[in-house]
Amino acid sequence: MQKQAELYRGKAKTVYSTENPDLLILEFRNDTSAGDGARIEQFDRKGMVNNKFNHFIMEKLAQAGIPTQMEALLSDTEALVKKLDMVPVECVVRNRAAGSLVKRLGVEEGMVLHPPLFDLFLKDDAHHDPMINESYCVTFGWVSSEHLARMRELTLKANQVLSALFDQAGLILVDFKLEFGLFNGEVVLGDEFSPDGARLWDKETLDKMDKDRFRQSLGGVVEAYEMVAQRLGVTLD
Ligand code: C5P
Repeated sequence: MQKQAELYRGKAKTVYSTENPDLLILEFRNDTSAGDGARIEQFDRKGMVNNKFNHFIMEKLAQAGIPTQMEALLSDTEALVKKLDMVPVECVVRNRAAGSLVKRLGVEEGMVLHPPLFDLFLKDDAHHDPMINESYCVTFGWVSSEHLARMRELTLKANQVLSALFDQAGLILVDFKLEFGLFNGEVVLGDEFSPDGARLWDKETLDKMDKDRFRQSLGGVVEAYEMVAQRLGVTLD
């Protein structure tokens, strides 16, 4: 399958059309951004690592019964995916306090959250992805209550599957973000799951192994991503 027109260039991925109107190609670039795109840097190998990482995770989620857009890994940095009508709402699950939750509530970083928290954010860089809730989704027409309930169910299911997977690899799944879209009226998991959109801490040392290394200028960004991939058994080379 060949890339045709560039449809959309996001902060870390570019989306291309293909000869099949139902399929797209996602290209994972080396760009890494923070602060709604205010800071951008390139890291060698990051596009390849995230593409293969994402494919591996999407396969695991599909095996657990979660519908995903993933069709095939096409190359080091490209994947073939179903074209979804994307919902402009991000679903976040938090197993431990970190990031914006710590800022907002002043709770201690690392606090265990049981049951896990489920947050919604609007995808809107200009307004810094504001936190929203179901009522906003319905009133502004971003997604119906029924589809949102399904998004929540699938996100919590993914949390169960992935928490166990990372635990076996010696990592804590602190939190993560998922995005969904509609395909023939069905809610399907889209976008990506990678250390760019999740917090992963080493179980023993609590070292950060995710994009917080970039956000907090800790260094060793791709090295941490590759270490996570290696521990999970993702084939990189
Ligand atoms: O910033 P916050 O603490 O709310 O992020 C929660 C989780 O969602 C983190 O794993 C973060 O990487 C992810 N996230 C994301 N994209 C955003 C906002 C958050 O991937 N726009």
